[in-house]
Order: sequence, then structure tokens, then C-alpha cells
Amino acid sequence: MKEANNTTVIALVGKGGVGKTSISALTVRLLADRYPDKRILAIDADPAVGLATALGMEAESTVDDIRREFVASAENGDTGAAIEMLGEAKYRLFDALVERGNVSFLAIGRPESAGCYCKVNAYLKEIIRLIAGSFDYVVIDGEAGIEQINRRVMERVTHLLLVSDASRKGLQVVQTIHAVAKNLVHFEKAGLIVNRMPELSMQDRLSTGDIPLLSCIGDDKAMSMSDMLGSTVYSLEPTTEIYRKVETALVNLGILEGGNPK
Ligand SMILES: Nc1ncnc2c1ncn2[C@@H]1O[C@H](COP(=O)(O)OP(=O)(O)OP(=O)(O)O)[C@@H](O)[C@H]1O
Ligand SMILES: [Mg+2]
Repeated sequence: MKEANNTTVIALVGKGGVGKTSISALTVRLLADRYPDKRILAIDADPAVGLATALGMEAESTVDDIRREFVASAENGDTGAAIEMLGEAKYRLFDALVERGNVSFLAIGRPESAGCYCKVNAYLKEIIRLIAGSFDYVVIDGEAGIEQINRRVMERVTHLLLVSDASRKGLQVVQTIHAVAKNLVHFEKAGLIVNRMPELSMQDRLSTGDIPLLSCIGDDKAMSMSDMLGSTVYSLEPTTEIYRKVETALVNLGILEGGNPK
């Protein structure tokens, strides 16, 4: 088992609907294909769910199920005590993982109320702390917006992958997330993917602030087709634009080795 500090933890964050889930799933696929001997954990941290479909991996039990189980068995239903129990019963977490090849999958689930939602984020943070060290790579598909950065759920992230469309609004959101993350997340590297660009030649007109631009992706017909058919990212050919550009972004962020990509 690796020490926690050798684990590469990648979080994908940005405004709603910009491609976080699609790019997270492709990141998982690229890592799994390129490094078959490495262990990869994919986490769907968005209660709106999506990564499971994109990867074709359905979780049997979620972080929220685990939370409820532990709260029910903590004598006074106290969250702090229940989180402590979780540390003692780490094996329960591993039971909740769905595995395929060298990829394991965990989903946050859908908490019933806003109150439970804060608590499930506290659980997710603890779970990342407890199990990240058992994997070489952890890929977290974040919830839209800045909440999980503010709540320090992303505290242990080493690589922050900011995703935006070409809109001013989307680019402002990633700049805000980046600025806040500089204080709350001890990331080593951050970079930006601009997705669904209507005109790739206008790349130099994007206001990206101080975030390094890793790659720009156009609207990809193969991605739309895959989406229409409800297929997983495994249906995308490595020649498709989105696949190639995500690969470029991961090389530029120092996650994938450059050279002769498969
Ligand atoms: N480059 C692309 N070309 C065409 N379609 C794309 C591209 N990137 C993403 N999409 C499509 O855009 C939609 C939104 O993408 P996705 O679900 O990955 O975004 P998201 O940021 O995770 O959204 P949410 O914030 O709702 O979780 C999906 O239908 C996806 O298939
Ligand atoms: Mg999503």
C-alpha cells in the first residue's frame, strides 16, 4: 500500500453543465488504460449523480448509506461519534466500492435533506482521508460550484482540474474557485480545460486570469452521440477530439506522461 502523500488526488470542479463528469470519466479511463498496474479510485462527489453512468459502474451502497448506517448505530446519533466509528470500521468503506479491473468506484449518494447534505460532505472528506492512501490515483467528480471547496471536502487534492465553457460566467466561476482553493486546498498544481468552445481559433480571447490553460475542446459530435445513446466513455474512440484533448490536458498538468500516448 502507498502512503497517502504519494497518492495523486485529482478534483474536477467548475460551474454546472460544463463537462466535469464527462472529463472525469475520461480521466479515469485514460489513467486505467495507461497505468494498468496502478490502483484508481473514482469518486462521484455530486449528489446529482452522473459519473456512474459515464463509467458504467453502479454503486450498491453510497457514502450517504454508510453515513446513515453509522449514525443509526452511534448511541446518541451524534455525527462526530459516528465519523469516529467510521475510522474504526474502515473495511466497511472498502465493501462499498464497486470494482472493475484496476478502477474502484464510490458515490456520495443522494442525501434526503439539506442538513444531511452538509453531513454527507463531512463524511466524504473523512472517507477521502481514510482511503486515498490505498490508491495511486483518486479522481473526484465534484459538485457544481464552490461549496465543496469551501467545506474543505477537497482538502487533500493534489491536482485541481478546473473546467469551464467559454462563457465569461464559467471562466469567472473557475477563477473564484481557484482563488479560494489557494487558501483552503494544498494543491500542487491547477489548470484549466475550456470545453465546448464554439471557435477554437479564438483561444487567445479567453480571460483565464492566472490559471494555466491546459487544453481547449470543441463541441464533439462523438460525445453528443454517445450521450444520446446513453453510452459510457468507453464507447469513445481514442481518435475523438474530447479524448485527445483530455489526454493533452492531463499531460500538461503532469498527470500523464507525455511521449507516445497509446
Ligand atoms: N466537448 C463536448 N462536446 C459535446 N458534448 C459535450 C462535450 N462535453 C460535454 N458534453 C455534454 O454536455 C453535457 C454536460 O456534460 P457533463 O454532464 O459532463 O457536465 P457536468 O459539468 O458534469 O454537469 P453537472 O454540473 O450538471 O454535473 C452532457 O450531455 C455531455 O455529454
Ligand atoms: Mg456532473
